[in-house]
Amino acid sequence: MKQAIKALAWSYSPYSKFKVGVAILKSDGKIYQGANLENAAYPLCLCAERTAIAHAHMAAPLHHILALAVVCKSETTTLNEPGFPCGACRQVISEFEDLQGTPIRLIVGNAELTSMLGFNSIKDLLPHSFDASFLK
Ligand code: THU
Repeated sequence: MKQAIKALAWSYSPYSKFKVGVAILKSDGKIYQGANLENAAYPLCLCAERTAIAHAHMAAPLHHILALAVVCKSETTTLNEPGFPCGACRQVISEFEDLQGTPIRLIVGNAELTSMLGFNSIKDLLPHSFDASFLK
């Protein structure tokens, strides 16, 4: 969670003023960060979870993800509750969980760490997901 909070500093979110920081712990013991990267062409905005997944995969493709921490911070309001990954990010995290064959633990919290929740698998947040088995 500390590394996810540090990643907030690298959020590029001039349009929403909503920062998201992510830290991924992999089986090599290293932590890979991500942050949301927005664009003047709004639909091109990248969520922090997916920049972190791409970062972690490219930096250490042979190591699996043990845990993924998400922290949200608004520049315009105080968040008393954790922010949750959007549906698209849940789908992407789920794909990597299936790929590695071990659960990805998830921790969500606000930037002050006054509110936190943990889950043992992304499937807890994405039941009945669409996956590769449908494409056989
Ligand atoms: N955002 C994320 O980074 N992750 C999510 O799961 C939800 C939303 C970002 C996208 C955009 O930059 C800002 O939060 C507001 O939607």
